[in-house]
Amino acid sequence: MTVKHALAWAKEALKEACERPQYEAELLLAYHLKQDRIYLITHDGELLQNVEEYKTLIQRRAKYEPYEYIVGSASFYDIHLEVEAGVLIPRPETEILIDVVAELIWKENITSIAEIGVGSGAISVVLARKFPRLHIIATDICEIPLKVAAKNIATFGLQNQIVLRASNLIDNVPETLQLVVSNPPYIAADFLLESNVADYEPKEALFGGSVGDELLKQIILDVKQRGIRFLACEMGYDQKEPLQDFVNKIGVKYLTFYKDLAGLDRGFVIEFD
Ligand SMILES: C[S@@+](CC[C@H](N)C(=O)[O-])C[C@H]1O[C@@H](n2cnc3c(N)ncnc32)[C@H](O)[C@@H]1O
Repeated sequence: MTVKHALAWAKEALKEACERPQYEAELLLAYHLKQDRIYLITHDGELLQNVEEYKTLIQRRAKYEPYEYIVGSASFYDIHLEVEAGVLIPRPETEILIDVVAELIWKENITSIAEIGVGSGAISVVLARKFPRLHIIATDICEIPLKVAAKNIATFGLQNQIVLRASNLIDNVPETLQLVVSNPPYIAADFLLESNVADYEPKEALFGGSVGDELLKQIILDVKQRGIRFLACEMGYDQKEPLQDFVNKIGVKYLTFYKDLAGLDRGFVIEFD
């Protein structure tokens, strides 16, 4: 089978699972051949070695497995992070949380923070690269994220800046902190997700409780109770009102919400008294 024929076959096989079957067929063939996509155009008559291996990749994607799990890597902010099943694939909207927090770190000269729910390490790694004097304690309750984050932290040589800790929220983080950042699970338990997410991504990273915002509320309470000054979190597009009511009842110095690129409410920053 030639490159051209393999791509035609793959495009057909991916037609249901992918919005852009041709593009993903090319990405996976380039990955399989360890070449870039231009190579496929300039070598479209070349006979493909290990056709079965390529077909296996396509069949996985045709069953809705996320592209990032198949190739073991996700593009995020200005880097690529290693990912695998059991760890959330970092999402573009989380890049906004990073920009919001970066501004705060810069303005308030913050040097000591914690991240709750480190996942692949996306938030902590990008922040540590932006601020070489920043120290981060990054927690997770699951083993795989802690293992994958450790690899990504090592890849970027950030072991001196980021300490990983198995912890429920910040229970095992007694250190003095100026800010907590988190993209916690915030989806309601009965929310219907697309199969590429529901069937492949870890439940612990997605669902925040029966309503969805339970963990976010617990984080707000914990950070306030610990006397930490700032908290910045990502949240669901429909959670602004309940969280605003909750925070108003508690009483804080300052609360602001931010939107994502689609104009949806996507997160908040709190300054505590
Ligand atoms: C939505 S993912 C975010 C991962 C990563 N920070 C990102 O933005 O791509 C949430 C992460 O929180 C972790 N998690 C869930 N409940 C937790 C808890 N009670 N304490 C600490 N981490 C928790 C999950 O295992 C998962 O890795």
